[in-house]
Amino acid sequence: MFQLDTRSVHAGRDDLTALGVHVPPIDLSTTYPLPDVGRGGTSYDELAQGNGPDGGSLVYQRLWNPTVARFETALAELEHTDGAVAFGSGMAALTACLLATVAAGRPHVVAVRPIYGGSDHLLSTGLLGTTVSWARPSDVAAEIRTDTGFVIVETPANPTVELVDIAAVARQAGDVPVLVDNTFATPILQQPARHGASLVMHSATKYLGGHGDVMGGVVAAGVEWIARLRQIRAVTGGLLHPLAAYELHRGLQTLPVRVRAQQATAMKVADWLSAQPAVEQVYYPGPHELIGRQQSGPGAVLAFTVAGGYEAAARVAASLQLITHAVSLGGVDTLIQHPAALTHRLVTPEAKPPTNLLRLSLGLEDPEDLTADLAQALAQV
Ligand SMILES: Cc1ncc(COP(=O)(O)O)c(C=O)c1O
Repeated sequence: MFQLDTRSVHAGRDDLTALGVHVPPIDLSTTYPLPDVGRGGTSYDELAQGNGPDGGSLVYQRLWNPTVARFETALAELEHTDGAVAFGSGMAALTACLLATVAAGRPHVVAVRPIYGGSDHLLSTGLLGTTVSWARPSDVAAEIRTDTGFVIVETPANPTVELVDIAAVARQAGDVPVLVDNTFATPILQQPARHGASLVMHSATKYLGGHGDVMGGVVAAGVEWIARLRQIRAVTGGLLHPLAAYELHRGLQTLPVRVRAQQATAMKVADWLSAQPAVEQVYYPGPHELIGRQQSGPGAVLAFTVAGGYEAAARVAASLQLITHAVSLGGVDTLIQHPAALTHRLVTPEAKPPTNLLRLSLGLEDPEDLTADLAQALAQV
């Protein structure tokens, strides 16, 4: 097996030389010719049950698409899982996991806060027929019930980049699957399946795409979950478009260099912020027992609180000139946003991030240009 960087460049491309091409072809077909009615029907059944095409007709894009399948194969290789299923967004990916567990008669979910505000809201509202028990990482076992479908954790967590010990949660969960949202770490820094996670989810919109121009979601998992998720996707239609899949697959090739460079900048900016009088606290994993054991580095997202409360934080966000004030993260350009007002707006008051907290996603700019911009914005307060 090749090293991670080599796999990032070559995964999902094994057949290209035989095809006589250098980059993957994009298949935009919404429908596929059928050899005859009987074999068409058999292919339909196979794909609708979550199996691969196995030489038969691909029937219809909602059942199978080769360009999407390439991205899934590549991502699964990086995450060390049997396979992956891609969706139109991270929220569509989480929705499919929740629907799968409701369909299996296990509608209860144990969730560790903090998590992305949209995921928190989806669980809190029970919109999809699920119920939730919120737990601290050490109390997961106490919340498990006979109808628990899975335990969900995010590590590093959005927005305060707290780390959760995946193996310790998996031990507590026992037979109950653990879903890890790996959006912040990416498979470059952390492969949750190696620590006991059964489901590894991404908002592919972030680092996997990496350029702020493609939305997607993906779940990497073992064969059983893959089949269930493909079935759910075929029925509910939360598809990833093949052009988006092409972009995400291409994004994987530069993922290691982007993540490591952005992480190096985050370390410098975190250090710099810690020394600023206008900054109360910096949230960024420093030396931590999970760095090295679970996650190879602290990542490229940080958060900080601004002295002077909400007004001061809002002023900083609005005063930045190089850094863009916008939600999302993981792209080549640095973004800042106010979680309590935006990404975590729908979270219940007791679980909301502090109102003077800003989240910063570091890009590929020169760190000194970023700190100069932060300095002029902090000087406004
Ligand atoms: C950690 C995390 N998970 C899931 C999502 C949802 O993904 P998407 O916006 O692609 O639907 C986000 C979005 O910000 C996120 O940050």
